[in-house]
Amino acid sequence: MGISLGLVGLGRFGSVFADLFRSHPLVDRVALCDREPERMKAVARRPGWDKKFNSRDMYGSLAELLKSDVDAVVIMTQPWLHAPQCIDAMSAGKHVYSAVPIISVPDGDEIIDWCERLIETCRRTGQYYMLGETTYYRPQTMFCRRKAREQAFGDFVYAEGEYFHDVDAKTNLRQVQHDRTSSTSGREWTAYKERYTVKGIKDGPMHYPTHSTCGPVTVMGARAVKVTAYGYANQTADPYFADAAFSNETALFQMSNGTAVRVCEFRECAGTLGMESETFRIMGTRGTFSENTWKENCRTAASPAQPLAVVQLTEAEMRDPLPDEVALAFHRISRPDATDPGDFQPKGHGGSHPYLVHEFVSAVAEERQPAIHAWEAVRYMLMGVYAHKSALRDGETLTIPDFGDPKQLP
Ligand SMILES: NC(=O)c1ccc[n+]([C@@H]2O[C@H](COP(=O)([O-])OP(=O)(O)OC[C@H]3O[C@@H](n4cnc5c(N)ncnc54)[C@H](O)[C@@H]3O)[C@@H](O)[C@H]2O)c1
Repeated sequence: MGISLGLVGLGRFGSVFADLFRSHPLVDRVALCDREPERMKAVARRPGWDKKFNSRDMYGSLAELLKSDVDAVVIMTQPWLHAPQCIDAMSAGKHVYSAVPIISVPDGDEIIDWCERLIETCRRTGQYYMLGETTYYRPQTMFCRRKAREQAFGDFVYAEGEYFHDVDAKTNLRQVQHDRTSSTSGREWTAYKERYTVKGIKDGPMHYPTHSTCGPVTVMGARAVKVTAYGYANQTADPYFADAAFSNETALFQMSNGTAVRVCEFRECAGTLGMESETFRIMGTRGTFSENTWKENCRTAASPAQPLAVVQLTEAEMRDPLPDEVALAFHRISRPDATDPGDFQPKGHGGSHPYLVHEFVSAVAEERQPAIHAWEAVRYMLMGVYAHKSALRDGETLTIPDFGDPKQLP
């Protein structure tokens, strides 16, 4: 028997994931939930929704959905809502998938408090939490995790992670902000966030840090220990940055494995530095990954370095495979007559979306922690929170606390 899921938040991003969750072979039943009824109806009208969805399974709020008997909920609401909603859901006996980040509000201390409460809720309830961080399942990240498992990097010496998303880029952040604050919940937030302004609390891009921090953390299996960061403040009185101390922030972390990691979160920048806007690079004593290229000198303790071998990789070569039945089910969303799972091309943020869905559904069905569990998610989040704190203090070096590991579950 498969699992049942409630999809919460069918806006710009949630609506993109709806068909993937519905199509997964281990999902038997899907419920829809949004405070904007039209958004639920638009998804329910799509082809294929008559099979696992019943119109009785439409809920006008998360609170209503949590009274139902679904096994798990997928939270795709605005970023300032995630943590309290996830905690409510786990307290109601549901497993939870959350869009990134754990939570984003202007006050870093409040974010830290939510991180603590999230971990406490995971321990108390035994429910599973997964963060939907897209970088985790980019092809580059999958490839580097395999290389790390083979110890092909040797000792890690340095890494970089970055998210360059200019406010006026193709996915226009002014438009995204407008859309996220136009719904009922969005208008409530516009009124609520005045309290931060009154207290003089200033936000920064490091409060949305997961795309840049995830790569180095997951590949090296290390956490950040200390940080020094600096900010660039907008110089044009752009109203988009009115609530932010900085439009761009750059941090240098000392990691638990002794490496240094440079992270950039920029919202005001012309283009990118490398090939991608959301990417990372990792250098080891034996192997280095950068810009879809693997460089290896094959040095070991027993044998000297060889001439550097340089391999340019395609995305298909870097990806892990999905199980055939899962790839075929996803392929049939757009090609109902498809018969070859090999024809499926993963899409969405480097093809990460199908992998995120597969990992969460599998974890719930197999009753195990998902790969991007709460403790991993907290590591990504705290890097950003402490980087922003450091930038506000003109680069003061700060120690980043450790919230432990899921193996410490009772
Ligand atoms: N690469 C990535 O990982 C990535 C990319 C884009 C967006 N996101 C994340 O996706 C999330 C959603 O972004 P979006 O642009 O789709 O936002 P959106 O505003 O378009 O949609 C959010 C929806 O949640 C609904 N909602 C809010 N509170 C609710 C409640 N209590 N009960 C039921 N429904 C509720 C709203 O009505 C709205 O329809 C954000 O947190 C964002 O950070 C992640």
